[in-house]
Amino acid sequence: MSALISLRKRAQGEKPLAGAKVVGCTHITAQTAVLIETLVALGAQCRWTACNIYSTQNEVAAALAESGVSVFAWKGESEDDFWWCIDRCVNVEGWQANMILDDGGDLTHWVYKKYPSVFKKVRGIVEESVTGVHRLYQLSKAGKLCVPAMNVNDSVTKQKFDNLYCCRESILDGLKRTTDVMFGGKQVVVCGYGEVGKGCCSALKALGAIVCVTEIDPICALQALALIELYNAPEGRYKQDVYLLPKKMDEYVASLHLPNFDAHLTELSDEQAKYMGLNKNGPFKPNYYRYDRCSKTTHHDFDYVQYTHFYCNVV
Ligand SMILES: NC(=O)c1ccc[n+]([C@@H]2O[C@H](COP(=O)([O-])OP(=O)(O)OC[C@H]3O[C@@H](n4cnc5c(N)ncnc54)[C@H](O)[C@@H]3O)[C@@H](O)[C@H]2O)c1
Repeated sequence: MSALISLRKRAQGEKPLAGAKVVGCTHITAQTAVLIETLVALGAQCRWTACNIYSTQNEVAAALAESGVSVFAWKGESEDDFWWCIDRCVNVEGWQANMILDDGGDLTHWVYKKYPSVFKKVRGIVEESVTGVHRLYQLSKAGKLCVPAMNVNDSVTKQKFDNLYCCRESILDGLKRTTDVMFGGKQVVVCGYGEVGKGCCSALKALGAIVCVTEIDPICALQALALIELYNAPEGRYKQDVYLLPKKMDEYVASLHLPNFDAHLTELSDEQAKYMGLNKNGPFKPNYYRYDRCSKTTHHDFDYVQYTHFYCNVV
């Protein structure tokens, strides 16, 4: 939030968003209210809706509405309410969005489905979530992405602050409030060992829980060669340049190490693979996935391997 406030101070004189009409779909909390206020201070007009039926802070939504921002959200919406709110946000006479800020892809999906003509005026989509980014890459691959989109999810600051650090804190807050139990000695399964999973494991371990992890990607499960690839590569595949090990081979090598850790790698189901747009045999991560973001936690990860039951996609 402090970064947003300082951006506001630095740029509000210039109004870099003058004329922008932003339709947004995010969690509606005090933190996102600061984002919306900042967009307004930088010159944008905003209409907002919630990306999650549970997370809206009603008092924040009310305060935003009072300040003149059109907000359609409340805590505890039904599924129907959720889509109604998104629709009200987009479908308004005399006002047409020219930017989309989305967290999860539902707003973007709705505009594509119901109001494709809106895209004639939209200059771009900013997407914050893993799921939404995944959908955007699918659209792009199918040649259906009609405006530029910015993948914010995979920026380092988002990955670290939101996914790793924030989830490391909110997992405990959320679980404590809802279950009110002691975590020491409890057995917890964490599904997926990406940034969010790493943060959650770290917090749960610190409370003394016995943590099991499920993973489908042998590299993430192991966290941890190229000679064979280079030696056997057909002429012309590699020029005089520096290359990364092909992802598939990287994953294969990692998978060979897994038995040493008593880890059991099983396959994605057909349904899961289809949903994620992946081949069941990998590669499991797109090229832009930042494995290097995990390098600082490698020793940590080996601690998990030693002290944590590590399963890969237990079925
Ligand atoms: N504030 C929040 O609540 C918040 C913040 C950020 C992300 N998220 C959500 O958390 C989730 C994870 O985000 P991330 O940044 O860690 O993503 P990530 O892609 O870095 O990690 C997800 C991991 O899950 C693994 N995986 C996928 N399918 C699996 C399966 N069937 N079984 C076991 N493992 C599987 C993948 O291989 C990957 O390593 C996403 O759904 C994201 O939208 C929530």
